[in-house]
Amino acid sequence: MTVESIFDELVAEYPVWWIDALGEHNHVGGVEATRWLMARARLRPGAPVLDAGAFVGATARLLAAEAGVRAVATDVNGDFLAAGRAMEHGALVEWVVAANQRLPFADASFESVWCLDSALAPKEFTRVAKAGATLCLCCEVPVDGRGGTESFLEEWEALGWRLLAHRSVSFEATEAWRKAEHLLVRYRPRFEERYGKRGYTFALDTLADLVRAYEFGERGHALLVLEKVRG
Ligand SMILES: C[S@@+](CC[C@H](N)C(=O)[O-])C[C@H]1O[C@@H](n2cnc3c(N)ncnc32)[C@H](O)[C@@H]1O
Repeated sequence: MTVESIFDELVAEYPVWWIDALGEHNHVGGVEATRWLMARARLRPGAPVLDAGAFVGATARLLAAEAGVRAVATDVNGDFLAAGRAMEHGALVEWVVAANQRLPFADASFESVWCLDSALAPKEFTRVAKAGATLCLCCEVPVDGRGGTESFLEEWEALGWRLLAHRSVSFEATEAWRKAEHLLVRYRPRFEERYGKRGYTFALDTLADLVRAYEFGERGHALLVLEKVRG
């Protein structure tokens, strides 16, 4: 089976808009965002690196193949990991079913922890990161009047992290949600059949809410690289 057909089969089995709209590199900014983080993550060949909430581990496979790290990909869904294992460079990665909030690794196991548009688990990520480790995030950040990104960073700083690099991808996120909404509207019969009528309406409502919230500046997205300086 080709790499494309492995992914296509997974897509057919899991009719959800974020797989359809974002594809293999399933986060805002796609592989370009991954490369931006990679250039700042201080990766050393052979270093143990965690890709938490990895989906098909596109990031873990890229980091293993191009930076030579010892990548571990985790996700709550074993089907996603099984597909990732069969995809390009899948053999370079260790695949482990686990929730981000309860990772089956010893304290200080990783030199770099990645979580791209999956569930953030600040305490658990801190526990499994070595001193001096980097943490690479692609995630929603607050953009409210109570401090916005600064208040988000304070939480991480309290756990012993310091900011190394930050890039807003709110514009890219808005574009991604707009494109996804457009895709669903344009090919309505196809997606209605795939998601079911209720599932389709729910996906469209979710996307319309996202587009509105991002257009009004009520929600934002960022790439962040942090360094563990203590704890
Ligand atoms: C939007 S996808 C992002 C996938 C991947 N990080 C990427 O950038 O391609 C979110 C993934 O997080 C996984 N996920 C959601 N909640 C999780 C949790 N609590 N622990 C581990 N994985 C989780 C989902 O199964 C899904 O594969």
